[in-house]
Amino acid sequence: MADIILGIESSCDDTSAAVIRDGYLLSNVIASQQVHKDYGGVVPELASRAHELNIVPVVSEALRKAGVKPSDLTAIAFTRGPGLLGSLLVGTSFAKSLSLSLDIPLVMVNHLQGHVLANFIREEGKPVHEPSFPYLCLLVSGGNSQIVKVSSPLEYEIIGQTIDDAVGEAFDKCSKMLGLGYPGGPVIDRLAKEGDPLRFTFAKPHIPGLDYSFSGVKTSLLYFVRDEMAADPSFLDNNKEDLCASFQKTLIDILLDKLIKASKQTGIREITIGGGVSANSGLRDRITLEGKKRHWNTYLPEFRYTTDNAAMIAIAGYYHYLAGERTPLDVAPVSRMADF
Ligand code: KG4
Repeated sequence: MADIILGIESSCDDTSAAVIRDGYLLSNVIASQQVHKDYGGVVPELASRAHELNIVPVVSEALRKAGVKPSDLTAIAFTRGPGLLGSLLVGTSFAKSLSLSLDIPLVMVNHLQGHVLANFIREEGKPVHEPSFPYLCLLVSGGNSQIVKVSSPLEYEIIGQTIDDAVGEAFDKCSKMLGLGYPGGPVIDRLAKEGDPLRFTFAKPHIPGLDYSFSGVKTSLLYFVRDEMAADPSFLDNNKEDLCASFQKTLIDILLDKLIKASKQTGIREITIGGGVSANSGLRDRITLEGKKRHWNTYLPEFRYTTDNAAMIAIAGYYHYLAGERTPLDVAPVSRMADF
């Protein structure tokens, strides 16, 4: 009999549900929350309320699109954390209730594990392009900047991570402070395409090992713009493309330096990327280029699987389910990675 898994993701500001049958995706529905746009960042309480409004229609739509009845489901996979506690509570409570009412197992998933396994989302009729184990995943999003060594679907180790801001935060905060819009990543990515990446240089961090830091480069950009604006108030307007291109190049350089170091240290040349920032066109081009130069096998997930989605939670949950893992109904969500 087929294993049909419903995945539920609600860790931040996207409510998502997906259905997979024996590892193949049948549906993946995402409701993005527009309510945060006016605030220039995700407002946790508003996110929880929007999840409450979205969760039933999103799950119903995922089941309808998949052509699956609730009674056909084998198990329910859900994001237990890390993320915003109120948001996680909505998905976790919904998953528990459904599991109880259908009398089927519940399987908890670490959100980060979903991201690192995004390349394993299979689709009927599409070629399979999956990294072999062990591989390195550069996980870059609004909340994470990590290098993860993945030894099997269920074994992963964070070998480098940011000691302060995440790279997505650097994109978002700088864009907000410069009045360019939210979320900052896509805006800066778009403007960077029209600018000169070598025009300006910003301070790069010197952090030992494989860890990252992005707060210094963010401050470096903001102070630079502030000083230039004091002399010429039209500086930002006249130079925003070059500023974005140079800033983005600096972030990509920082990410790649440590990824290259991690590959050399571990001897691993299977490289994937994940998380919202992996949608960045400059980063994708650069990883492809470095990959060719360094004989890496690079795997770039499709854009729709780079940001938060339940398909990756369902696939990670499927592996946990196959390994016999079952989550008790008294499970509570956790906001921090360390508490998982
Ligand atoms: O994985 P994700 O959807 O969830 C969070 O961790 O919140 O990532 C969102 C992040 C935001 O910081 C956003 O600015 C960034 O991904 N992002 C991008 C691009 N598209 C989204 N950053 C750079 N370039 C992009 N094209």
